[in-house]
Amino acid sequence: MKTQLVGMIWAEAAEGVIGHEGGMPWHLPEDLAYFKKMTADCPVIMGRKTWESLPEQFRPLPKRTNVVISSDAGRAASLRSEGALTASSLKEAVDLAGQKAPKAHMTWIMGGGRIYAEAMEKDLADLASITRIDLQTAGDTYAPQLGEGWAGVVKVPEQGWKTAENGTRYRFETYRREGRP
Ligand SMILES: NC(=O)c1ccc[n+]([C@@H]2O[C@H](COP(=O)([O-])OP(=O)(O)OC[C@H]3O[C@@H](n4cnc5c(N)ncnc54)[C@H](OP(=O)(O)O)[C@@H]3O)[C@@H](O)[C@H]2O)c1
Repeated sequence: MKTQLVGMIWAEAAEGVIGHEGGMPWHLPEDLAYFKKMTADCPVIMGRKTWESLPEQFRPLPKRTNVVISSDAGRAASLRSEGALTASSLKEAVDLAGQKAPKAHMTWIMGGGRIYAEAMEKDLADLASITRIDLQTAGDTYAPQLGEGWAGVVKVPEQGWKTAENGTRYRFETYRREGRP
């Protein structure tokens, strides 16, 4: 049962790169702060590899129901012992998030590449929040393409390019799946 809006949230460098060798190939505190603000008090859903990419002291992500997807029952038990809820499919994770945090206005899918791809394939997301990073970098994990049926939402002043303290240019973009309430 899907009761809440479901969003995907990611940060993306040139050519769609979102990850490399199990981590994110940049350090952008401004994006981490934006992620924290956007997902505050909402459940977050992630693949097992994204969970493992989080520094141990930050997982589960505080003040948010953390649902981690794994196909491995043994691994799922150890994830639960670390404080995550677990699901064996993305659909199950979305349902569980809705049940555990019924008052949240959104459920956020927070990666990684495999989970975003499945969310697109199964058309499970209503919204996409993308931090576009003006950076060429090596990667092995990619963002999905938001093609037909997705429309950009203009948010002023957040749509403009900003320059991070470390000099990296970035901007926040929001897209909605057309035809959804
Ligand atoms: N830039 C960003 O905003 C952002 C955000 C998130 C992650 N990332 C990056 O993305 C990379 C990780 O992404 P990834 O694609 O390699 O891995 P992932 O999507 O985080 O996790 C993949 C794992 O999730 C489980 N899984 C996925 N789909 C499943 C399904 N349908 N049924 C059951 N289990 C399923 C499997 O775990 P088991 O093997 O345990 O079965 C699978 O190995 C890292 O580099 C990370 O830093 C970037």
